[in-house]
Amino acid sequence: MRIFHFKKDLQTHLNTVNNRHKRIGLVPTMGALHFGHLALVRASLAQNELTIVSIFVNPVQFNKQEDLLKYPKTLERDNNLLQEISDQILIFNPAVSEMYPDGLSTNTYNFGGLEHVMEGEFRPGHFAGVATIVEAFLQLVQPKHAYFGEKDFQQLQIVKKLVALKKIPTTIETRFSYEFEK
Ligand code: PAF
Repeated sequence: MRIFHFKKDLQTHLNTVNNRHKRIGLVPTMGALHFGHLALVRASLAQNELTIVSIFVNPVQFNKQEDLLKYPKTLERDNNLLQEISDQILIFNPAVSEMYPDGLSTNTYNFGGLEHVMEGEFRPGHFAGVATIVEAFLQLVQPKHAYFGEKDFQQLQIVKKLVALKKIPTTIETRFSYEFEK
């Protein structure tokens, strides 16, 4: 299992002759992995030749600074859980400055109003923040499949709209899991 902290290193690794044509699966997470995440990782391992799990607590999707500060950071435990599943998994764990080198900012999207209703009504900017980081990861990794929990149903629909809007050739996959908790 390998951990990458820098976009350039991950890209260099993905561009090696051995990896260039491999089918890649991406599982974006904010860490604190649980059963639901691991189900997504297992699905990716079954469907792809390379699986990348991103572990990144994305500041721009938090509405309250206190929620961001208290978000659990359990990298060592997360690594161990992934290692138990497969030592072939690649982990991408960038610093905030790596993903937002010009300072924190959020892209503007038009998701047809979906971003403003339900959870979006109470969390202004949240889905634009999610889409900003998911788009960055999809552009970086260019996976064939990317995996999102079904429990976050609105987020899942936003991500599907994102790939359609930006014409990103990644298939968005989900898995149902009773135990998916966040
Ligand atoms: O569902 C999450 O954990 C996050 O919203 C995601 C998709 C990893 C983006 O930061």
